[in-house]
Amino acid sequence: MWAGGKTSLVKRYEEKNLLPDTFDTYIEPFFGGGAMFVWAYGQNPSAKFYLNDLNQYIMGIYAAIKDDVEEFCRLVDIYDKKYLSLPPPKVKTKDENDKTVWVDHPTGRPNKTLEKAYKVGRDVDWIELGNEIPEYHTRRQFYFSVRQKYQQLKTDRLSVPHSAALYFLMKAGFNGIWQTKGDTDLFNTPCGLMRHTESIYDKENIVEWHKALQGTTLLSQDFTQTLDHVHGAENCFVFLDPPYRGCFTQYGVDFDDKLQQGVVDYLDCATHGGAYVMMSNRDVGDDFFEKRQGTNIIETFDVTYTAGRRKKEDDGTFTAKKAKEILMIGKK
Ligand SMILES: C[S@@+](CC[C@H](N)C(=O)[O-])C[C@H]1O[C@@H](n2cnc3c(N)ncnc32)[C@H](O)[C@@H]1O
Repeated sequence: MWAGGKTSLVKRYEEKNLLPDTFDTYIEPFFGGGAMFVWAYGQNPSAKFYLNDLNQYIMGIYAAIKDDVEEFCRLVDIYDKKYLSLPPPKVKTKDENDKTVWVDHPTGRPNKTLEKAYKVGRDVDWIELGNEIPEYHTRRQFYFSVRQKYQQLKTDRLSVPHSAALYFLMKAGFNGIWQTKGDTDLFNTPCGLMRHTESIYDKENIVEWHKALQGTTLLSQDFTQTLDHVHGAENCFVFLDPPYRGCFTQYGVDFDDKLQQGVVDYLDCATHGGAYVMMSNRDVGDDFFEKRQGTNIIETFDVTYTAGRRKKEDDGTFTAKKAKEILMIGKK
């Protein structure tokens, strides 16, 4: 789960016949959750794949799944079992009209007074809290203590055990977003609703990823550096899915219009080098991409954003927010 996941848009690209018929090299410079890779691998599993994301810790998770899936899943299972055994903040029940409602769990709910007592500076010392108050072993305390241990690591954060811890955190964390701690690049997303009743992850899917990743080259560089792999590649497909314009904080990095311009330049350069290049982005209504279109093709898609991105109406209610996404396809 990763903010900006593309699975449903890929289907719409396919329906409109926008995806290439064949390719022998596939390059994804902003890999994230890799939804387009799933399509590309399905099309041609024996292609050469270069998968890149600036976030080295995300790429560390893919590397762990690629290199040692058994150990990775064994460790995630330990987190998963422990987490599921603890009381969640809310429990599901029925109201007098037989409607499903979530009410505070008698022991799993947040205890703000207790947490405040363990505050050190701006943070709660969750490990110490857990050590001293065993009655407060809840999913919430567990999540934050795993996060605290992960943040305090002195050793290789890209190792299989630490990548498994991060994977658990991303699965149980809030909405698949990536918040960072202060001016570090460390994962600092708060816990999610933690309502899981069964495993936080799909092991079979991870094993599929393990197989698919075998022939891939995993990279963690600035996207511009992946251009090297476009040059000289025969029949190359590049899918660019940068952080969208107008949402700068989702991935813990600032991605301003200068960088967006850099993505368009990349698209033009790779297209001139003979690659089939697609770039997805948000249309914020200022014709930013139209002004930079040149001979390229632009397709637009209506989308509806739900959770977290809903629009607040004057009366205080929320409605799904309508927006436009664009797809620029390189054309010489
Ligand atoms: C919109 S997300 C990608 C979503 C993904 N395609 C999917 O389907 O889930 C954008 C990604 O760009 C990465 N990123 C941000 N700045 C970058 C840069 N300069 N070079 C490479 N990757 C970058 C972020 O870490 C994030 O994973």
